[in-house]
Amino acid sequence: MTNKVETLQKKLAEAALGGGQNRIDAQHKKGKLSARERVELLLDEGSFEEIGALVTHRTKDFDMENQIFLGDGVVTGYGTVNGRLIYVFSQDFTVFGGSLSETHAEKICKIMDMAMKTGAPVIGLNDSGGARIQEGVRSLGGYADIFYRNVRASGAIPQISAIMGPCAGGAVYSPAITDFVMMVENTSYMFVTGPNVVKTVTNEEVSSEELGGAMTHATKSGVTHLTSANDFECIQQIKQLLSYIPQNCEETPAKLPYELGDEIREVLETIVPENANQPYDMREVISGICDTESFMEIHKDYAENIVVGFARLAGRSVGIVANQPISLAGVLDIESSKKAARFTRFCDCFNIPLVVLVDVPGFLPGTDQEWKGIITNGAKLLYALSEATVPRVTVITRKAYGGAYDVMNSKHIGADMNFAWPGAEIAVMGAKGASEIIFKKEISEAADPAAKLVEKEAEYAKLFANPYTAAERGFIDEVIEPRFTRRKLIKAFAMLENKVDHLPKKKHGNIPL
Ligand code: HXC
Repeated sequence: MTNKVETLQKKLAEAALGGGQNRIDAQHKKGKLSARERVELLLDEGSFEEIGALVTHRTKDFDMENQIFLGDGVVTGYGTVNGRLIYVFSQDFTVFGGSLSETHAEKICKIMDMAMKTGAPVIGLNDSGGARIQEGVRSLGGYADIFYRNVRASGAIPQISAIMGPCAGGAVYSPAITDFVMMVENTSYMFVTGPNVVKTVTNEEVSSEELGGAMTHATKSGVTHLTSANDFECIQQIKQLLSYIPQNCEETPAKLPYELGDEIREVLETIVPENANQPYDMREVISGICDTESFMEIHKDYAENIVVGFARLAGRSVGIVANQPISLAGVLDIESSKKAARFTRFCDCFNIPLVVLVDVPGFLPGTDQEWKGIITNGAKLLYALSEATVPRVTVITRKAYGGAYDVMNSKHIGADMNFAWPGAEIAVMGAKGASEIIFKKEISEAADPAAKLVEKEAEYAKLFANPYTAAERGFIDEVIEPRFTRRKLIKAFAMLENKVDHLPKKKHGNIPL
C-alpha cells in the first residue's frame, strides 16, 4: 500500500508543477502568477478541491505522446470564496502555452456542467495561446463545447472571465459571452486576429497592447468591464464582484448586516448646482445615497456619460444606472445605451434591484449617431429596463427631457417608485428649444424678437421645468428633498422586497441587437 500511495503522491506532485519549474519561473518573470497560485489566491484558504489533476491529452501526432503533462494545461475544481461555493478553471501557460486541447476543454466543460447542476458561479482565469495547434479541429470542437455551455448557463449562473495573459482568435468568444470580463494591464490582451494578420489584411501597424490590451478594451471597445494593475488586484476584484451577486438566478443576493442611523445625508443638498447648465459628478450623488464605500463601478472608462455599478443600501445589493452630467452633459448615445442595457439585464437575471438616477438632456443628435444606429441601440436600454422585473426605483435629480425621460426607468415602463428632487425639469425639451418652435411666429413678429424669446422661455420653463406637472399626473410618486433620498430608497426597496412580476409566457423576447 505504501508504494501505491507513493505513486499517487508522485503523480500529484508532478501535476502540481504543470510545465515545470523553469516555465513557472518564466511566468513569474513576466509579472504573472502561476495557474495554481491564482486559484489559491482566489479561494478561501484550504477550500480548493481539484478535479482532473491527472488528465492527459490523447494526441499522438507531432511527437505529442512524448510530451505529456498531467492536468493538460488547465487547473479545474471547486472551492469557496467568502464561504460560498464557486467553480474555477485556471489555464496553465506553462503547459503548451495554456493552449486548449480536446481534454483541456473537457475539463472545463465538466466543471461548467457541475456548476449548472448545483447552481453556483463559474470563474474562468484565462491565460492561453488559443487552440492547441497540434490537435486541429478537435481543439476547435472543444471551444465550441465551451461556448455552447456559456450560452446555456447565461442568466442561470453568474460567469466571470479574468484575462490574465493571451486570449486570441475564436477563444475570445467564451469570455465575451460571460457576464463580466476583467483584464490585467500590460500582461493580457484579447483580439480576434493579431497584429501580424492585421498588417497583412489592412496594412495597419499596431502593437498587441494597442490592438487588444486592457486599456484599449476598457476605453475603446468596452469589451472589458474592469482592469487591474496586476494579478493580485484582479483576483481581489473578482471577490468583490462576487459579494454583490447571488449564486444563481433562483436566489437573491446576500444581505449584509447593517446598522441604520445614517439615512439622512445633508451632503445631497449641495451637489446639484443652481445653474442647470453646470455639470456635477453623479458619483457624488451615488456615494451620498449608498452605504459608505459600497459602490463598485463597472465599465468605468467606457461610455462615461452613464455610470453603472453595484452598491449597497442598508446592506442590500443594488445595481445603479445613472446619467453622468460631467461627461457629454449626461446625454444618451449608442455606447451609453448599450452599456446600461447590458448591466440592467445582468441585474435583472440575478434578482439585483435597480436604482436609476436621472439627469439627462436627451439623446445625442448628429449624423454619426443616426448612421451608426442610435435608434436600434437606444432601444436596447428602453427594452432592457421595460423587461426588468426586479424592484426598480428612479430618482430624477435634474433634467429628464424627451424620449430619454421615458427610457430612464419612467413610471410608464414599469418602474415601481419614481422620485424627483425639487429642482427636476421634466419636459419634452429644454425651454429655449421648445419656445423657438412653438412660439416661432410670435417671436419673429415681435418688435424685439430676442426679448420675446426670453419671455416665452420663462413662460415655458415655469410650466414645465419643474417636477410638479409630472407629480400631478402621478408620473412622479413623490417630490423629495435630496437629503431624504437615501431613507426613501431604503424604505422603497424594503417595501418592494417581495415584489412578484412575471413576463408574459414566451420562448424569449427579441431585444433589438
Ligand atoms: C500549442 C502552443 C500554442 C498553441 C503556444 N504554445 N501557443 N502550443 N498550441 N496554440 C506553446 C509554444 O510552443 C511554447 O512551447 C509555449 O507554448 C510558450 O509559447 P511561446 O511562444 O514561447 O510564448 P510567448 O513568447 O509568451 O508567446 C505566447 C503566444 C505565442 C503569443 C501565445 O505562443 C503564440 O502566438 N502562439 C500561437 C497563438 C495562436 O496562433 N493560436 C491559435 C489561434 S487560433 P515550449 O515547449 O517552447 O514551451 C485559435 C482558434 C480558436 O485559437 C477558435 C475557437 C473557435
